Amino acid sequence: MASVPSLASTLQQQLADALTAALPDAGTADPLLRRSDRADFQANGILALAKKLKGNPRELASQVTAALPAGDLIKDIEVSGPGFLNVTLTDRAIITTLAARAADGDRLGVPPKAAPGTTVIDYAQPNVAKEMHVGHLRSAVIGDAMVQILEFTGENVVRRHHIGDWGTQFGMLIQYLFEHPDELRHGGDQADGEAAMSSLNRVYKASRVLFDSDEEFKARSRDRVVALQAGDPETLAHWQRFVDESKIYFYSVFDKLDMEIDDPDIIGESGYNDMLEETCRILEETGVAVRSEGALCVFFDDVKGPDGNPVPLIVKKTNGGYGYAATDLSAIRDRVRNLKADTLLYVVDARQSLHFKMVFETARRAGWLNDDAKAHQLAFGTVLGKDGKPFKTREGTTVRLEDLLDEAVERATAVVREKAEKVGLSEEEIIENGRYVGVGAVKYADLSTSAVRDYKFDLDQMVSLNGDTSVYLQYAYARIRSILRKAGDAKPAAHPELDLAPAERALGLHLDQFGAVLEEVAEGYEPHKLAAYLYQLASHLTTFYDQCQVLSDENPAEVVENRLFLVELTARTLHQGMKLLGIRTPERL
Ligand code: ARG
Repeated sequence: MASVPSLASTLQQQLADALTAALPDAGTADPLLRRSDRADFQANGILALAKKLKGNPRELASQVTAALPAGDLIKDIEVSGPGFLNVTLTDRAIITTLAARAADGDRLGVPPKAAPGTTVIDYAQPNVAKEMHVGHLRSAVIGDAMVQILEFTGENVVRRHHIGDWGTQFGMLIQYLFEHPDELRHGGDQADGEAAMSSLNRVYKASRVLFDSDEEFKARSRDRVVALQAGDPETLAHWQRFVDESKIYFYSVFDKLDMEIDDPDIIGESGYNDMLEETCRILEETGVAVRSEGALCVFFDDVKGPDGNPVPLIVKKTNGGYGYAATDLSAIRDRVRNLKADTLLYVVDARQSLHFKMVFETARRAGWLNDDAKAHQLAFGTVLGKDGKPFKTREGTTVRLEDLLDEAVERATAVVREKAEKVGLSEEEIIENGRYVGVGAVKYADLSTSAVRDYKFDLDQMVSLNGDTSVYLQYAYARIRSILRKAGDAKPAAHPELDLAPAERALGLHLDQFGAVLEEVAEGYEPHKLAAYLYQLASHLTTFYDQCQVLSDENPAEVVENRLFLVELTARTLHQGMKLLGIRTPERL
C-alpha cells in the first residue's frame, strides 16, 4: 500500500519549509494554501505573518519564493496583490502524482489513519412491530455511508442497531398473542417481509382495539409488562416471536436498500436490560440523579419547559419502570467499557437532539464519557413532501419505506429502459440497473445535502439525468467504461512528459483531492461533502469531454493513452466514492 501525498500537501510542506527558512523567528507558520481561480493554488498566509512581524509582505513573499527548493513541482510562482503567492504546478507533477495513485489499487493512494480509534455507530434502528418510514431511511443511509467512510480511513468500526424492542407497548401485544396464539404467523425463512409486516400490523391493530375498549384486557396487559420485565420465560418467548417476525420484515427492507446488516449487530433496547438497575443505582449514589416526585431525575440548568420550570431527564419512572434514557445511558456504559469505544456516533433524527444532549451530559457527569470517550449525534433533518411539509401520502398517513423504494426503482427502470436499446442491455440488465439507479437516487438525494437540513423528496428530480443526481454520476462512470471498451488495443498509460490541456489539468487536480476530501468527510461526519466532490468530478469530466477527444485518430498514441489514463482514474475514483456512499455504479447504462 503506497500512501501518495497530495500535490497540495507537498506544496504546503515546501512553502512551510521555505517560510521557516526565510523567517527563522516565525516558528512553524501556515502558508494557508487554497485552490485558486488565478493559478492552481494561492497561499495567503504570508500577509498575516508579515503584519505580525511588522515586515513588508511582498518582500517576505519574494524571500519565500527564493527559498523554495528546485524541482519538478512548481512551474510558476508569482507574488500578487499585497503579498499573496500564486502557484502553478507543472503538468509533469500532476501526472506523476496521479500515476502513483493509480498504482495503488482501490485505495487510490489514500493512506489509512496512523492512529485509528474505535467508533461505535448507532444507526438503522427501526422499531419492532412497527412499519419503517422515511425517518428510518435517513438513519440507515447516512449511517451506512459513515460506516463505509470511517472503515476506509482505517477506523475500527462497531455497528449497533438500537432497535425499539422493549417497553410498555409490548405488554399489550404479548398479552394478545397469549390469547390468540395463531394470529402471528411466523413464515420461516421463506416468508417475505411484506407478509411479516402485515401479520404484525394485524396483531397490533387488534390488540389496540381490545386495549382501548376492554378494561380487563388492559389490566392483563399491564401485568404482562411486569412479567416481561421480570424475565418470565413464557412471556419472553412470545416477545421473541414479535422480534423474529419484525426482523424478517427489517431484513427485507434493508435488502431493498441494498444494505448489509448483520444479526449480531442488532442489539436493541432490550439488550441493556440487565444493566438498567445498576445504571440507576450509580447515578443515584453519585448524586448525578435525584429523586423528584417519586421519579429518578437528572436536572440541567439550561433545559427548561415553556413554563420556565426545569425539565429533567427521567431515568426511572415513578412506577419503577425504565425508559429510553436509562437504556441509552446503559448502552453508553457498554460501548465505552466493553466495546472500548473512544467515539460514539448516533445517527438519529434531529428531533431527538434534546434527549441526546441530556443523555450525553448525564454520562459526562457520571464519568462514563470524558476526553477519551466522546459522543456525537449526527442529527438529520426531516424528509419533506413537494409541498414543503413532512412527507405524507395523499391520505395523510406516513409513507411506507418499501413503497417509496419500489416507486423509485420503477421510475428508474423506465429511465434505464429508454436508453437500453442503444446500449444493448438485456432485460435482466435493465432490471438490475433499474434497481441500482433507483435505490442510488434515493440514497444520493439523502446524502447530498447536509444531514441536518430538511430535504424535499422529489422522485422526478432524483432520477433526472442532469443535475446533482446519482444517475448523472452513474452515467459518467458508465460512459468512461464504454470508452475504455472501445479503446481496443490502446491502454491507459500515464505520460508525464506531455503538456496538458486546461480541462485535463482541472480534472487531474480535482482527482488529486480525493484523499483530502475523505479525511474531511470522516472527521466532520459530513458525507454530503463526498457527494459534492463526486459531482464536481463528474462535471470536470463533462468539460474535459467537451474540450478533449479521447479516442481520435488525430491524437498521437501517447495522448490517447494519457487521456485513457485520466478517465480510467476518474472512473475508479467515482466507483470508490459512490461505493463509500452505498451506491452502485453499473458498467453499462
Ligand atoms: N428506535 C428509535 C426511533 O425509531 C431510534 C433509536 C436511536 N438510537 C438510540 N440509541 N436511541 O426513533
